[in-house]
Amino acid sequence: MLENVQISNNTQSHAPLGLGCSFYGVARYEESEVADLLDAMAASLEGGVTHFDTAHDYGDGESERLIGRFLAEDVNRRDQILLASKANLKDMSTVAMQRAIDVSRQRLGTDIIDIYYIHWPIPDADMRPWAEALESARRQGQIRAIGVSNFSIAQIEQVAEVAQIDALQLGYNLLWRFSEVDLIPYCHERGISVIAYSALASGILAGKYQRLLSFAPHDQRWGILHFRDGIWGALYPLVEQFNAVAARAGIALSQLALRWILHQPGVMAALVSAKNRRQALANCAALQAELDVSILEELSAISDEAMRQIPDEGNPFGYHP
Ligand SMILES: NC(=O)c1ccc[n+]([C@@H]2O[C@H](COP(=O)([O-])OP(=O)(O)OC[C@H]3O[C@@H](n4cnc5c(N)ncnc54)[C@H](OP(=O)(O)O)[C@@H]3O)[C@@H](O)[C@H]2O)c1
Repeated sequence: MLENVQISNNTQSHAPLGLGCSFYGVARYEESEVADLLDAMAASLEGGVTHFDTAHDYGDGESERLIGRFLAEDVNRRDQILLASKANLKDMSTVAMQRAIDVSRQRLGTDIIDIYYIHWPIPDADMRPWAEALESARRQGQIRAIGVSNFSIAQIEQVAEVAQIDALQLGYNLLWRFSEVDLIPYCHERGISVIAYSALASGILAGKYQRLLSFAPHDQRWGILHFRDGIWGALYPLVEQFNAVAARAGIALSQLALRWILHQPGVMAALVSAKNRRQALANCAALQAELDVSILEELSAISDEAMRQIPDEGNPFGYHP
């Protein structure tokens, strides 16, 4: 359980909002854009977000390197942040996992990573060697907690034979709630912390998209299930209903959507990305927003209707390792 993961020399628990760093390095950024990303991290930390989430292969390692650069700029930062990374491997060996942990530590410039996740399961494979490597890394003081991400209950049970699983990271937001039925209650009963990713449903809940989508032909967002023909057309009017609730409440939809997640039982933290100071501060403001329960209930009712339009394909990205 993540409450047991203490940030070094610091007994303070982490805030329930985490900064998702998957966009950091996906593109080749200009130095001015890199400055914006570093500033987004600084603003997040100033705004009370002390949980940073990255992965071994985000931007081929650029995300971890950029966080490492951010941490190196001020030696006090490392102790303030709950640092999480993940490995997405094809090689099933303990050696492959150990190597990934070592590379992540080196890029991040830290001896110890607070949570290290198996990023994606490989269906029908024996993933216990990865979990054994994580348990061994914990014993050696290279990681503090073990997470899995995008795992089913059966997959969690497999790796739990050889390692104590502390956290599950899964997609969860107003437009993706399939895990409420089984995974979230399962984790809650066993003291596994649930970390919700894609808290803004890839920007849909930030009100970014019009009825007519205009991504470039090779834009990776075409792969997101919500934007598929026949689904987006049904979802868009419901997104407009979310927007109307936000307008009435006088709060940005993005902040409402984050607060909604943080009110859900069994969810420990929500991960949201931010590419600049403005976005980071807007997301941090969600931590302050006080909301009437009736607003959250209205959001849940619209979300219930939306969920009837969305097929459960395991994840919204069409990614099946
Ligand atoms: N474990 C996994 O397999 C997995 C999978 C997906 C995500 N994650 C984690 O979850 C994190 C967040 O998920 P995500 O990146 O998919 O999506 P997200 O945070 O739900 O949404 C990102 C989108 O929201 C927009 N946005 C963010 N803050 C905003 C604000 N204040 N105002 C307006 N727009 C705003 C961004 O706009 P811009 O386009 O302008 O930046 C971007 O388009 C990732 O970074 C990663 O750490 C994990």
